[in-house]
Amino acid sequence: MSFSVSSDLHWTPDSWQSREALQQPCYDDQVELDRVLRELVHLPPLVTSWEVLALKEYLAEAQEGKRFLLQGGDCAEGFADCSSPIIANRLKILLQMSLVLVHGLKRPVLRVGRFAGQYAKPRSADTETRNGVNLPSFRGDLVNGLAFTPESRRPDPGRLIRAHAHSALTLNFVRALIDGGFADLRHPEYWDLDWVEHHSTLADDYRDMVNSLGDSLRFMETLAGTIAGFQKVHIFTSHEALLLHYEQALTRQVPQNAGWFNLSTHFPWIGMRTAALDGAHVEYFRGICNPVAIKIGPSVVPDELLRLIDTLNPEDEPGRLTLIHRMGHENINRVLPSLLETVRRAGRRVLWVADPMHGNTETTSNGYKTRHFDNIRSELDDAFDIHAAVGTYLGGVHLELTGEKVTECLGGARCLSETDLERAYKSMVDPRLNYEQSLELALLIVRKSQT
Ligand code: PEP
Ligand code: CO
Repeated sequence: MSFSVSSDLHWTPDSWQSREALQQPCYDDQVELDRVLRELVHLPPLVTSWEVLALKEYLAEAQEGKRFLLQGGDCAEGFADCSSPIIANRLKILLQMSLVLVHGLKRPVLRVGRFAGQYAKPRSADTETRNGVNLPSFRGDLVNGLAFTPESRRPDPGRLIRAHAHSALTLNFVRALIDGGFADLRHPEYWDLDWVEHHSTLADDYRDMVNSLGDSLRFMETLAGTIAGFQKVHIFTSHEALLLHYEQALTRQVPQNAGWFNLSTHFPWIGMRTAALDGAHVEYFRGICNPVAIKIGPSVVPDELLRLIDTLNPEDEPGRLTLIHRMGHENINRVLPSLLETVRRAGRRVLWVADPMHGNTETTSNGYKTRHFDNIRSELDDAFDIHAAVGTYLGGVHLELTGEKVTECLGGARCLSETDLERAYKSMVDPRLNYEQSLELALLIVRKSQT
């Protein structure tokens, strides 16, 4: 691999186009693509620069160990899932998990959804063959359709506009729910458990926590009057900024703040497959003012990691760079310590986050892509131990989850088995923790932090 760093070169929102851009769709109608991109450039952004900068400050606090990041949502959002119950349930599980974490870690939790833009997926192969028929792989609703027909699998530029609209609809509803008091602890009905067995230890632990927090809040209000901050929580958005034409079209300058902002999301990240130092994604990301994250897989070596840090955050700006390690439970002990040690010794400012999902994907004998809850837990446990041993701070988790009662990951308190997967497997790409497994994982993180 070559390590030519481009930071001495002039950056523009389209300078990535001179680099190799992996995982991009092959559009067959350039005229149509250009027309759509011109339309996209005129549409309003989804977020504002001051929200983006506020998030950067929160992330800077997380780097100092003062906050914990909870980043979660679907592997791939679908246009068909842009509906009231799915959005509300996903928000609810994120809020419930964050409540568990706030209570247990005694630290504010920064909530970031993998939603309102998580519509593009990297794939291991460009095409897929079924019964002798070869078609382009499904690359997410931003690009093409899941149905295995030539019409549906054709990359369609019109989907860029639909993805922008669906992101806006999702974000609008999330903002309205939060503004309307959905996260108000004085409304216990919002904090009630769905789909958790009523008399499980999980439910008992959770209810004790909600009651104790509600009691403290009411007690404080009796003394001090209404505490306004408790009605509202902040929730930010993130997605893998994979399809660079789309990201470029939403990269804007604003009157109040200098520089270029990607205003399609607060917090874009670079996926593992597009993290090459001399590739188009790193080139695009180095010039935007957002806080950015990059996924770090088991093949990254310490020297390469330092160069990525130099390129993405040359000034060592607080809050700017998050490193999401996703090693797999079998690799983490071998690979992570030297990476942490290298960054610590170099004195670089990063936020370390664990993604215990993506290194632990496997296919069952009956053909389902799944993950074992025990492997997810094991990677997370080891991540906490390794950071503690090296003296770095594990400041967050990155999870694929849903607020629905799906059966996609194996194990957990209900001991889901391979035959259970057939019952409610709905993910278009990777398996997600269901509602109950998500809550269970949040409780496990708390227990781990207390040992
Ligand atoms: C993802 O987050 O859905 C993903 C593809 O992750 P990674 O880039 O870590 O493989
Ligand atoms: Co995924």
